[in-house]
Amino acid sequence: MAHLVGDDAAALVAAAWMHDIGYSPALVMTGMHQLDGARYLRDVVGADDVICRLVAHHSCAVIEGRNRGLSDQLTAEFPPVEGLLADAITYADMTTTPDGSPVEVEQRLAEILTRYGEGDLVAESIREASPLIIKSVQLITGKLAEGRI
Ligand SMILES: [Fe+2]
Repeated sequence: MAHLVGDDAAALVAAAWMHDIGYSPALVMTGMHQLDGARYLRDVVGADDVICRLVAHHSCAVIEGRNRGLSDQLTAEFPPVEGLLADAITYADMTTTPDGSPVEVEQRLAEILTRYGEGDLVAESIREASPLIIKSVQLITGKLAEGRI
């Protein structure tokens, strides 16, 4: 789907590969993997600004940021990417299982809720973000289907 985002294709692919790097135990600072990963990519790797912003905000991270009290830091350091590019990174994340297999977004969301468990901050953040995540996946799915006509 990288062709959908034009000149941002390379940044999208890089962010898709790196988006969860903040889960690495060596990189945990705040405990919010989107922010920790984006800071590592910015401060250590020197990655492109768009890549860092995509990693920081993948899959509606601002909701988890708000629930952690980190949304001001998140958006101040990494302004959200708008439009199709933001939908595309969320699509990449939410249509792929943790081991890299294709999956429907509803199954992916259900797996996250099960893995973290009822009441967990990540689970509740994903539950709140689910309508937005599904909307992004539907948008990209539609764009991909247009390309097949
Ligand atoms: Fe993630």
